[in-house]
Amino acid sequence: MNILILGSGGREHALAWAVRQNPKCDRLICAPGNAGMEEIADCVALDAENPEEVVGFAARNAIDLVIVGPEAPLAAGVSDALRAAGIRVFGPSQAAARLEASKGFTKEICAAAGIPTARWARFDEAEAAKAHIRREGAPIVVKADGLAAGKGVVVAMTEAEALEAVDAMFGGAFGAAGTSVVIEEFMEGEEASFFVVSDGRNILPLGTAQDHKRAFEGDKGPNTGGMGAYSPAPVMSEAVIGRTMDEIIRPTIAEMARRGTPYEGVLYAGLMIRDGAPRLVEYNVRFGDPEAQVLMMRLGAQLLDVIDAATEGRLEEVTVNWADDHALTVVLAAKGYPGAYEKGTEIRSLGPVPEDSNHMIFHAGTRREGGRLLAVGGRVLNATGRGRTLEEARERAYALAETVDWPEGFFRRDIGWRALGRRG
Ligand code: AMP
Ligand code: GLY
Repeated sequence: MNILILGSGGREHALAWAVRQNPKCDRLICAPGNAGMEEIADCVALDAENPEEVVGFAARNAIDLVIVGPEAPLAAGVSDALRAAGIRVFGPSQAAARLEASKGFTKEICAAAGIPTARWARFDEAEAAKAHIRREGAPIVVKADGLAAGKGVVVAMTEAEALEAVDAMFGGAFGAAGTSVVIEEFMEGEEASFFVVSDGRNILPLGTAQDHKRAFEGDKGPNTGGMGAYSPAPVMSEAVIGRTMDEIIRPTIAEMARRGTPYEGVLYAGLMIRDGAPRLVEYNVRFGDPEAQVLMMRLGAQLLDVIDAATEGRLEEVTVNWADDHALTVVLAAKGYPGAYEKGTEIRSLGPVPEDSNHMIFHAGTRREGGRLLAVGGRVLNATGRGRTLEEARERAYALAETVDWPEGFFRRDIGWRALGRRG
């Protein structure tokens, strides 16, 4: 199979790394890719959000399967264009991608299918939104309706903060994403991520993970795209997974099919768990980053078998063999991230990475220039370990992170604290 992966982050490096291990993969091309992906694939410059450009490239290069990493190409209709051209694609249609692209749409699906989630209301102008906040009181959550690169959410602990967020959003802080605002009940509990793959009809539960969204130790500082993750998530017991499948995932897949917009691809449910009961925080229509890194570390070559079956509508034929293992990843980011940071600093060395299935440094924002490895993004490297226990996975991940010689980078030293603390 000739395979094209769209994207350039740590998530896409992990997907490429897993796909490459499967003997079904002949040629692997990544667009645009990064310095890590370059070592295992051909990287090409391509506007991944331009449907015609992607279809043209795939047709010219005899691509059998396109795997879409991030949400933007999906929201731009890249998978629809590929399907129309008869090219297999792993990623939902533009209509189904609204589960991430519009928070209001997801809430409508929840209402129609009886899915447990936060109480909510949607507003198209500031005064009505503010009146609602004054009625409900704090804590309360204010969200820009559209895609805002993960930054359009304000969890307001005071009424003043919430009112300010409304003004910022209608004032254009998130561009077009903020022309409509969703205001939600604040949910208490423990957050976890749950991933399933669907071919529109069948559903394969893929795994659980927990992310660390805040920039600094102790879950302090600004929200980021994610500073580290581990899999599995202890809070996702068999019983909680069962309830999540019955109460959230199956009703969603059924409702999307009923509307004539079946969901084909990976569905990422952000959950809030309290007293064993899951509620939906949000959907993403792609793998998480850095959650994909820990899932791929555990899934390996099987990823391509799952995607192959899902894109041929025969997901019921596959089973995944999970080892009794754990994975943990530590994100190395540029100092200053998620605010302003310097670009183009040199990563002097990555240290020795043992060549086994328990150690891997995935690349995110990296580029190789004349033999030098440069940091060109906010999140730059993901030091990832796998082990029989979470402690072992963590030790391996941190041993790798410590060997990276990059003075302009930083990482959190407490990834995994919640799960490890749980064991007391
Ligand atoms: P989202 O972009 O919707 O995932 O929101 C970002 C983060 O805000 C989530 O991961 C949660 O930590 C938090 N959040 C979002 N909605 C709620 C809610 N209704 N109650 C509590 N926390 C929330
Ligand atoms: N790590 C969170 C996300 O990918 O949305």
